[in-house]
Amino acid sequence: MENSRPSWTSRLTFILAAVGSAVGLGNIWRFPYIMGQNGGAIFLLVYLGLILTICFIPLFAELAMGKITKKECIGAYESVNPKFKLLGFLNPLTGILISSFYFIVGGWIIKYIILSVSESKITDFGEYFTAFTQDSIPACVYTLLFLFICVFFSARGIKKGIEFANNVLMPLFAVILIGLIIYSLNLPNAKLGLEYMFKPDFTKINAQMFLAALGQALFTLSIGMGALLTYGSYIKEDKSITKSTYTIILSDTLFALMAGIMIFPAIFSFGLEPNSGAGLVFVTLPHIFAQMHYGNIVSAAFFVLLLAAAITSGISILEVPIASMSERLKISRKKACTYLFLIISAIAIPATLSFGALSNITLLNKSIFDFLDFITSSLLMPLNALFLCVIAGWFLKIKGGHFIQNKFLSFLFDIGLKFIVPIILISLLYIGLK
Ligand code: PFF
Repeated sequence: MENSRPSWTSRLTFILAAVGSAVGLGNIWRFPYIMGQNGGAIFLLVYLGLILTICFIPLFAELAMGKITKKECIGAYESVNPKFKLLGFLNPLTGILISSFYFIVGGWIIKYIILSVSESKITDFGEYFTAFTQDSIPACVYTLLFLFICVFFSARGIKKGIEFANNVLMPLFAVILIGLIIYSLNLPNAKLGLEYMFKPDFTKINAQMFLAALGQALFTLSIGMGALLTYGSYIKEDKSITKSTYTIILSDTLFALMAGIMIFPAIFSFGLEPNSGAGLVFVTLPHIFAQMHYGNIVSAAFFVLLLAAAITSGISILEVPIASMSERLKISRKKACTYLFLIISAIAIPATLSFGALSNITLLNKSIFDFLDFITSSLLMPLNALFLCVIAGWFLKIKGGHFIQNKFLSFLFDIGLKFIVPIILISLLYIGLK
């Protein structure tokens, strides 16, 4: 039927897609380097605390709002009150902005897969990475290639595209990750990496760490951009979202931990520092792979793993503007995908060039790439999450009692949704923008 909304084939395909959205570059690229910059095990402790106590609240609210309203983001907000339409509109806008930098990193991954299987004799990976990102035409080609792959799956629709990609890529991802963990744990001195991850140093705790942990938690759980709302709107009436919420949180946390268990032992085994920042995966790890036995194979496996994770998340980011465009403008999914490809390219190309040809252009003293990262993760995602909690808690009146049996826990949920999470998000916004 042309005008009926799509829905997931089963609860499992929905969960795979939602976990596929959550598990992405945020877990394997961002989590280890943010942890490395914020004191290792103590950051992990704070992060786990926030995920388990606070983050499930907006995550549940987002899924519930999608499932209850059965609409894309703008329509979902509008159906609660027509005045909220503009707030709903911020979600697809955030999606377009996030994809414009997320997909650049996706392009780098494709480049590194090719590099892993080619006979290269690179000695300085830092220099190599800088030179590659500055080389305008190839860098843009890789960004557009990654965008094209994601749009291709999205254009095929929920069942043939999104479900298919997740059903194939998520198991592939898990198998490669487990293989790499076994390899990494068998390296000499691997236990130093585990100590770094699991032996907290309480003297290192500080406010900045909480901010970094909360920002990371929102990003990794895909909260605050409408992806889960949109995925939730495709859930059939009779399916509960309570178990799904726990499954998404636990799987995402498990995958982040596994990524750390794969990466840190290797770093310590080769005597390198874990705090090298965003270059950890593209500079430090290739340096390690180059010295390993069968390094090419391990490197290729690692970047294929990263690509699989990035595609399933990338598809979920695209789904927000695709659903909004096709349902609001009443155009076909394929047409929406084509327009979106052009819109995202128009932002992603200047962002890609901001490492080279356009490096002199700055917005708020940041390169275009850093600016997009900043306004999405420090401003728009927390802001969207805030609006979501307020609308879901105060206007849609989503209550813990609808899904939590225990009276006290459901009371805590209600307070969390209406007061605690909004206050924390306002503080996050305040500190982040200061
Ligand atoms: N959660 C994804 C990751 O960890 O890479 C990123 C992401 C996907 C953010 C979807 C937001 C979103 F709506």
